[in-house]
Amino acid sequence: MGTRELGLPERVPATDGLPERVTIWEVGPRDGLQNEKSTVPVTVKLEFLDRLAAAGLTTLEATSFVHPKWVPQLADAEELLAGLNRRDGVRYPVLVPNERGLDRALAAGVSHIAVFGSATETFAKRNLNSSLDDQFAMFEPVVTRARAEGLDVRGYLSMCFGDPWEGPVSPEQVVRVGKRLLELGCSQLSLGDTIGVATAGQVERLVDTFTGQGIGVDALAVHFHDTYGQALTNTLAALRRGVSTVDSSAGGLGGCPYAESATGNLATEDLVWFLDGLGIEHGADLDALVSASAWMAERLGRPSPSRVVRALAG
Ligand code: HMG
Ligand code: MG
Repeated sequence: MGTRELGLPERVPATDGLPERVTIWEVGPRDGLQNEKSTVPVTVKLEFLDRLAAAGLTTLEATSFVHPKWVPQLADAEELLAGLNRRDGVRYPVLVPNERGLDRALAAGVSHIAVFGSATETFAKRNLNSSLDDQFAMFEPVVTRARAEGLDVRGYLSMCFGDPWEGPVSPEQVVRVGKRLLELGCSQLSLGDTIGVATAGQVERLVDTFTGQGIGVDALAVHFHDTYGQALTNTLAALRRGVSTVDSSAGGLGGCPYAESATGNLATEDLVWFLDGLGIEHGADLDALVSASAWMAERLGRPSPSRVVRALAG
């Protein structure tokens, strides 16, 4: 029997205390498309988002209100938000670095934003044109104003495991910087392996360092890029520690334009196959996701990097 005939993995629930349900935080339309060489037409982005919502994903990170010169691929953020088919029960967070970005996001009617900080000095400079300390001065009025407007604010933290300029990043440093984001008022901290170098032991150690300092796993999410093929293994390590929000990107699109060597995120389809096998609830439909990503891969003119999409599409 070929993989296509098999269709879905056999469900064999794990017995060692994994969460019963995982929230998939879909980042493909933002983290994926921000890194495309060509600019994807807004109509294609809108259809991609709608196909992902129809596939049962309920958190779709739609775009970023960053400087259009820094990320030209997302310069159409206003147009995208205006054209969005907002479905009931689906949230559409956007990235916002500063007050100018918040003004734009509020004018576009968003209800969920994410600020994005760096655990290292070098990446703060390269990604935000800021020092590590100054990034907090930039975020503080954003988070305060956004919360006063009733918005939910997520905090991303990049380079939590390794940084291409600074090498390995210590868990103590990550916790120190991550705590500052939570103290600003972020409801959740997403731990980014921006360049995909983390391994499972590092993930366990980092989550343990957070919990050891009184930050519960409910406040944490994981955001793995798959450069070295470790994203799913790292996800399992995080789930075993009780983390239950996982960022992923449909079709494995992605990367960061300001992080050399970053490839796509953990593919949503690979995550869903894995969660289905373990009997963990997530609410998404694998076949519908595969066809959305295969459709997007055709628009981009190259095959999806997701192993599951390649196995099941066509
Ligand atoms: P800057 O050049 O230092 O900005 O960039 P500035 O504050 O000096 O302002 C310069 C001009 O830009 C001003 O205009 C501002 O109004 C304008 P002027 O007065 O000269 O006419 N400006 C803006 N315009 C539109 N929207 C804005 C905005 N802000 C200022 N929001 C800045 C600083 C933070 C803006 C810039 O560095 C930036 O946009 N960076 C974004 C980089 C980015 O998006 N990276 C990818 C996302 S992070 C990621 O992918 C990692 C993640 O996935 C997790 C992981 O994997 O680790 C989240
Ligand atoms: Mg990322």
